[in-house]
Amino acid sequence: MSASAVSPSIVGAEQFLQPLTPSQLLRIEGELIGELPLAIAALRFTPAHFDAKAFERLRIPAPDTLAKAVDKRRAEYLAARLCARRALAANAIEGLPWTAEGERCPQWPGGCIGALTHSQGFAAAAVAAGSRLSALGIDAEGWIHSDRADRLAAMILCDSELDHWRELPELARGAWLTRVFSAKESLYKALYPRVKRPFYFHDAIADFDPTRPSRFTLALVKSLDAHHPDGFSVEVRALDFDRGVLTLIALPA
Ligand SMILES: CC(C)(COP(=O)(O)OP(=O)(O)OC[C@H]1O[C@@H](n2cnc3c(N)ncnc32)[C@H](O)[C@@H]1OP(=O)(O)O)[C@@H](O)C(=O)NCCC(=O)NCCS
Repeated sequence: MSASAVSPSIVGAEQFLQPLTPSQLLRIEGELIGELPLAIAALRFTPAHFDAKAFERLRIPAPDTLAKAVDKRRAEYLAARLCARRALAANAIEGLPWTAEGERCPQWPGGCIGALTHSQGFAAAAVAAGSRLSALGIDAEGWIHSDRADRLAAMILCDSELDHWRELPELARGAWLTRVFSAKESLYKALYPRVKRPFYFHDAIADFDPTRPSRFTLALVKSLDAHHPDGFSVEVRALDFDRGVLTLIALPA
């Protein structure tokens, strides 16, 4: 389908927002979306330039949960909702996602499904018609550099992934770990709305070809329910950008 730019007049009028460049949008369209029937809208944002009146100006309601939030949280919330509104519009739906009380998982209007991410001053929403796709996950992560990678690897990777990771050239380890980390977060966002239960980094394992880091699979290593048994596997699409990686998981209807 398409990678969408939030209206240039909106972005131009708000100091805390920056558009993606046409070539960044093209890369999202070509390398991430491809033939998939979904829309992605994305933006950059700078929390230091955020002001609270932006909610009113942009006609996005601020939920009570943001009342005491710091500007970084308000800015990322707002940037992600602008992306959601744009990605819904690309599916011919007017509206915004909402979050039920006590939940973190967004609900989508008009029979759509979708997912949000905001990280490293980058926000994105992926949205599709529920008749075309049954689950979507999207996640942006900043590059995990080698010193942090050594500390985080055992938390993110299963034992066999760890063995493989330790065999990689030292310089490649941070990027590999970042991609798997982001992919597992995308998997969580894609499957949580279906299984309605938490699951953890060691519950899925990546099958990774280091020569093709932009496409790999993730498979569950434990059953989440009858529809998502041990071995259930999904394709991950990954796109490197300057500050990190963006991963996408889309399951057919
Ligand atoms: C929920 C989680 C995946 C979010 O990822 P993150 O990198 O922290 O944050 P991102 O900015 O990329 O995404 C945040 C968005 O995720 C969405 N989200 C949060 N919980 C969600 C859930 N249970 N299901 C689907 N989407 C969810 C929300 O839209 C949220 O944005 P919002 O608060 O503005 O609405 C992460 O915080 C988490 O709990 N991870 C542990 C579980 C996990 O990843 N297990 C791995 C399984 S293999």
